[in-house]
Amino acid sequence: MTEQLIIGGTTSAASDGATFDVYDPSSGGVLATVAKATKVDVDRAVTAAHNALEANAWGGAPPAERGRIMIRIAQALRERAEELATLESRDNGKPLKQARADVQVAARYFEFFGGVADKIMGNTIPLGPGFLDYTVREPIGVSAQIIPWNYPIQIGARGVAPAMAAGCAVVLKPAEDAPMTALRLGQIALECGLPPGVVNVLPGMGPEAGAALASHPGINQLTFTGSVEVGIAVAKMAADNVVPVVMELGGKSPNIVFADADLDATAQGVANAIFQNAGQTCSAGSRLLVERKAHDVLVTKLTDRAKTMRVGPGVSDPDMGPIISKRQLETVENYVKIGEKEGAKIAAGGSRPSDASLGKGYFYQPTLLDRVSPDMRVAQEEIFGPVLAIIAFDDLEEAIAIANRSQYGLVAGIWTRDINKAMMIASRVKTGQVYINTYGAGGGVELPFGGYKKSGYGREKGLDSLASYTQIKNVCVRFA
Ligand code: NAI
Ligand code: MG
Repeated sequence: MTEQLIIGGTTSAASDGATFDVYDPSSGGVLATVAKATKVDVDRAVTAAHNALEANAWGGAPPAERGRIMIRIAQALRERAEELATLESRDNGKPLKQARADVQVAARYFEFFGGVADKIMGNTIPLGPGFLDYTVREPIGVSAQIIPWNYPIQIGARGVAPAMAAGCAVVLKPAEDAPMTALRLGQIALECGLPPGVVNVLPGMGPEAGAALASHPGINQLTFTGSVEVGIAVAKMAADNVVPVVMELGGKSPNIVFADADLDATAQGVANAIFQNAGQTCSAGSRLLVERKAHDVLVTKLTDRAKTMRVGPGVSDPDMGPIISKRQLETVENYVKIGEKEGAKIAAGGSRPSDASLGKGYFYQPTLLDRVSPDMRVAQEEIFGPVLAIIAFDDLEEAIAIANRSQYGLVAGIWTRDINKAMMIASRVKTGQVYINTYGAGGGVELPFGGYKKSGYGREKGLDSLASYTQIKNVCVRFA
């Protein structure tokens, strides 16, 4: 059976009937066949989204009613959590427990923003006697959303939920490498009473469906998560139509560890931050900056962890699953070779696992690259795999300088018992989020998330995300 596009509340084949295969990265086998959206389909979906807004059944519905439907979607996601988590695990390869957590976070987005739908307020602005001035936050219109394959249901919900709360309609293009749960999300939303056309889901290829969506003159806003290169390209397409964009483009986030930290808790936090989802996380803690005095102790703890992690098919719920694709696996392998040539030392991993039963999947071992210096490519470029670059530093100023010596600025983690040191770094590090003695906050639905520098701009998650999905109308009244 072919998974169909979701346009205007119904499922349909692609305009030319084309499909593509989706692979299970744990086995390399075909998981599903999916309709491949064309330019014509993008046009149909954008029109359906506009029609939904014109019909006023969503943006014009009582905000509390919008919120109720969104909370129903949250409940449905929770009721179907096991089915969705299994599908996500097969499609993306991630361990089942991580997929389960992703589904709960997706549900939480609909719950959080469902509660926000009737609390999107404006201001009154004092102009003096004889004037009443007020602002209204109106929906921006049709939001185009292009998402990656690393957290499909989570990132799908992260963009769709605030747009829905604001009264917008959405055209969502999932990644060709993992489109399945985004399609389920669209189906569930319809089953929960969402008016047709409010959420449309168009699986397809980036250069075809993605580019047609980003350059469509009918969209009013674009949210993109993915690579810097494609982000720049889609931002230019949107610019031709004066369409504002939110860009979430990944990073090379540092975990900065001082010798006075609780090194057991730190080792666990640092390992999670890089090995979760096999390192294929925009906010992965992919650089470890460790105070030289603590280097050997911490690296030993990390090595012990990395060597005992079980790598295997996502649905067997291992500690780490495969990489998404052969291409991405080769990228990771190549980076490790580059690191070695640059003089880094492999402290753990550094190759595919020897277990023959994993031979057909795209597996790689949890890898520690030690003795990395801040300007090596493996310290500067996003690898997007389970590879941690370990850099030693001697003092706080040096740590801050290394942390900021990056084209990226998404997240920083700080591990110390000294609150003064932690606060000093938090104020000087150039990243959109800072965590002290923790990392990531379990999805962080409530916390504004986004980048400094080439990590992007605009904020998702939390109440700040609503700025992207609303536009402010000021009304000035003169009365006698
Ligand atoms: P990508 O940036 O090519 O894909 C992200 C999304 O953009 C997908 O939905 C894709 O279909 C779409 N896309 C691709 N080309 C497009 C185009 N010309 N016009 C419009 N949409 C287009 O990312 P890819 O190739 O999957 O991964 C490459 C690298 O990007 C990774 O190694 C990683 O470094 C980075 N990346 C970062 C992510 C993040 O969370 N910030 C997520 C995925 C990848
Ligand atoms: Mg690409």
